[in-house]
Amino acid sequence: MRVLILGGDGYLGWPTAMNLSACGHEVAVADNYLRRNNCRETDAEPLWPVPNLNERARIWEKRSGKKVEVFIGDLSEWDFISELFCKFRPEAVIHYAEQPSAPYSMLNRRTAMQTLKNNLEVTANTIFAVKEFVPKAHIIKLGTMGEYGTPNIDIEEGWITIEHKGKKDKFLFPRQTGSLYHTTKIMDTDLLWFYVRMWGLKVTDLMQGPVYGMHTDETAGDERLLPFFNYDELFGTVLNRFIVQAVIGYPLTVYGKGGQTRGYLDIRDTLQCVRLSLENPPDQGTLRIFNQFVELFSVNELAERVRKLGKRFGLDVKVKNLPNPRKEAEEHYYNAVHTGLTDIGLTPHYLTEDVLAQMMETVFKFKEKINVPAIFKGVKWDSYEKDCGRV
Ligand SMILES: NC(=O)c1ccc[n+]([C@@H]2O[C@H](COP(=O)([O-])OP(=O)(O)OC[C@H]3O[C@@H](n4cnc5c(N)ncnc54)[C@H](O)[C@@H]3O)[C@@H](O)[C@H]2O)c1
Repeated sequence: MRVLILGGDGYLGWPTAMNLSACGHEVAVADNYLRRNNCRETDAEPLWPVPNLNERARIWEKRSGKKVEVFIGDLSEWDFISELFCKFRPEAVIHYAEQPSAPYSMLNRRTAMQTLKNNLEVTANTIFAVKEFVPKAHIIKLGTMGEYGTPNIDIEEGWITIEHKGKKDKFLFPRQTGSLYHTTKIMDTDLLWFYVRMWGLKVTDLMQGPVYGMHTDETAGDERLLPFFNYDELFGTVLNRFIVQAVIGYPLTVYGKGGQTRGYLDIRDTLQCVRLSLENPPDQGTLRIFNQFVELFSVNELAERVRKLGKRFGLDVKVKNLPNPRKEAEEHYYNAVHTGLTDIGLTPHYLTEDVLAQMMETVFKFKEKINVPAIFKGVKWDSYEKDCGRV
């Protein structure tokens, strides 16, 4: 299939590009380096340097003999995205291209506006580009489990049937989230659902949990092909952060009571889920939703696993419960259905001690590069940095 990956330079985008290309798909990637620029601007650079997208494509082609076509530009600009779709004519579009950090979206007015504008404009442009140039193309959109929040009932896979005053109907599962970034993901889902009803688009929305790891089949043997690895408060995901903190003897930053429970997955399973969704499309005129995670952990459980692993590396890992800068339930009910992806063939990777150890070994190699002040800045949910004077 001809597959276009929007946000192909990102943590998940580049490994997906290599994986789909290795599986024989014809792949193109588009990115404007928003993530790299935001990291640089906030002094939260990834742990190791990552070659630019054209360079990575060249390294991959040398290694695999397969070409990944690169387009650099801003997908929120119609001129760029329309030319891209017109030229490449994708049969499927994987949409990763968003500002994906919750704390970044809560930092100040400017970062809030960037998140809101960028995420909604890219999603809307993608919808219009599909409608105009490739109306039968399958849109695979990365949503997040965070869209649902932490309701005191079981979370269904996207939809819920409600019986009210003797009548029944099916609706999107209620969504009530905890950051501006997550709110933009809810709005994305609403936009997609609207245009599925209006224009009969074919869409899979993947409600993904936090991802951990950096190693995939395609990165083996060449560190230049590793994805970004952020460990800072703004762009790092929790387990990746804890591993780095453990390596330098920084007490693991558990927010509040640490009972926050989410569904996690290995980066290799993100690739599997996206490929399985691609190769098993829904019918035209459908919004299919999968809950994309493998195992549930509370923050305390993750901290405990990293603490135990530390012993294997001779580290005395400490855990510190910090006053929670976010507004979120620190102890809550959490039970989410996630059978859809298993039904189409997902064979999960679990968070074993060996998986954690491989991550820690890689982090150790870059220990000298760890920027300690980036680890915790305490971005607050109930206030924001005033940025008067900046545009
Ligand atoms: N990483 C996770 O744990 C996780 C969990 C749940 C959902 N997601 C979702 O998965 C997607 C990918 O996440 P990620 O961790 O790879 O993030 P990322 O920031 O590494 O990747 C997103 C990429 O999109 C690009 N981009 C953003 N706006 C753009 C624009 N206007 N034009 C062109 N390129 C643009 C960025 O430069 C970046 O390279 C996001 O939509 C995110 O919400 C990620």
